[in-house]
Amino acid sequence: MAKKTPPLRSTRWFGRDDIYGFLYRSWVKNRGVPQDQFDGRPVIGICNTYSELVPCNSHFRALAEHVKNGILEAGGFPLEFPVMSLGETLLRPTAMLYRNLASMDVEESIRANPLDGVVLLVGCDKTTPALLMGAASVDLPAIAVSGGPMLSGKYRGTDIGSGTNVWSMSEDLRAGRITRAEFHEAESCMHRSHGHCMTMGTASTMASMVEALGVGMPGNAAIPAVDARRNVLARMAGRRIVDLVREKTPLSKILTKAAFENAIRANAAIGGSTNAVIHLVAIARRIGVDLKLEDWDRLGRDVHCLVNLMPSGKYLMEDFYYAGGLPAVLRELSESRLLHDDALTVNGRTMGDNVREAPCWNRDVIHSMKKPFKKNTGIAVLRGNLCPDGAIIKPSAATPKLLKHRGRAVVFESIEDFHRRIDDPALDIDERSVMVLKNCGPKGYPGMAEVGNMPLPPKLLRKGVTDMVRISDARMSGTAYGTVILHVAPEAAAGGPLALVQNGDLVDLDVARRRLQLLVPEAELAARRAKWRAPKPPLERGYWKLYTDHVLQANEGADLDFLVGKSGPFVPRDNH
Ligand code: FES
Repeated sequence: MAKKTPPLRSTRWFGRDDIYGFLYRSWVKNRGVPQDQFDGRPVIGICNTYSELVPCNSHFRALAEHVKNGILEAGGFPLEFPVMSLGETLLRPTAMLYRNLASMDVEESIRANPLDGVVLLVGCDKTTPALLMGAASVDLPAIAVSGGPMLSGKYRGTDIGSGTNVWSMSEDLRAGRITRAEFHEAESCMHRSHGHCMTMGTASTMASMVEALGVGMPGNAAIPAVDARRNVLARMAGRRIVDLVREKTPLSKILTKAAFENAIRANAAIGGSTNAVIHLVAIARRIGVDLKLEDWDRLGRDVHCLVNLMPSGKYLMEDFYYAGGLPAVLRELSESRLLHDDALTVNGRTMGDNVREAPCWNRDVIHSMKKPFKKNTGIAVLRGNLCPDGAIIKPSAATPKLLKHRGRAVVFESIEDFHRRIDDPALDIDERSVMVLKNCGPKGYPGMAEVGNMPLPPKLLRKGVTDMVRISDARMSGTAYGTVILHVAPEAAAGGPLALVQNGDLVDLDVARRRLQLLVPEAELAARRAKWRAPKPPLERGYWKLYTDHVLQANEGADLDFLVGKSGPFVPRDNH
């Protein structure tokens, strides 16, 4: 006898002939849904992060319509729903504080509703990891669709990228070199279309991670938000998610260890943001993949940066797309045997099949592995008595001679302390000093601010100093640079050794040996530890309290401890 296919999850809502079936269908029918939509076809959620408070995702109502069309064409039943959206530009104190909250919203919204699969509409930096984390904990079939980057900024004949030139322009305004009208004109020129930041910052990095993980359609990383082909991609994703439900392909079949390894190598090849380290570790831990900090170091070590994009190069995401986009980069990795070709992707093909014939149309934008844009651009993971649970540095963004350095610490107890003192001409600091910033980690800030690339003291800038060793438990923007050691774990506010550093202590950095040491005798450190008191959190109620009480350290993805792992799509209490 042929094996009967088990009914879809949604039939436990819509496939019933009792009072509850009546209730479930009847209320949905109130907007004109005919009875035949409840005939057992896949019900697909469209998880929408549209918000006018998140400019990067402000076109998502229209994007959702294209997904919907695809779902209908493939015989599915689309149901769009909103979730918390996170914008980098307006949210205070930092969007990262709310990533885990948004992921809870996503997880519970998916699990509690009659959905068989879900399309995740993601764009601005934190929306991508938040939605992937939430969806991973439910583990239904899922496809992520990124909103796409903005068109290149154009100002007086030159290309300008998101965030670039902002500092010099605000300085020019302050110095009276440009007028307010010119300043406002520049604002309009920098961000002139829908979409997310168009440099290779965190949003573009995460859109690339979506594609490299295989959880997005080929082309996801770079098609501009306003290019009609972005709408085609959304429509194709709508069609494919229906197939994924029918084929019974949960997210965990896509998000395997091989997929994460592909993403880590892709991150090195695009010169991606250090923020990807935290986000990928968090997503992996949700889906049950054992991804460690050292995996970043091991896998990225032999990979070169192939793309000549701002902030480290000169082009923008629009140019990247016209040059071939991420498939051209992944093909280079594949041909260098640095890609798991057999990793399954959401379009039903393997990664190798997707990228085998990928063309490159401009070798100045996308370089080959033989003639890379920059050599060895992976992320180095440091260990030592200053960071027993790890810290990271992007050596390609650092000054080579500072990668081995010993200097005395100049300590800032908080970012406020830093701002108070950094301009002081009497600050006791020179170019060999090591700037140490505390209490900006997950608990300490809270939310791990992007302040790790501390600006240098003006008195050293005037002397022509361009870089110094900087150490913190913070993150840094995907567009930042320098010999910057980030994500020190455990952080200062959790009582990590960083909390014990004092002015004048010698710090020894040796990136080649992956070491970061505080040269202070253990007895002295023990005495300091005995006197250390945890700083008082700035707010002790609501989500802020939940967050500071439960957030994990950066090496564990800065997730909340009780959110790690997955509980699947089943609703444990169900009296209907
Ligand atoms: Fe949204 Fe940059 S502000 S991606």
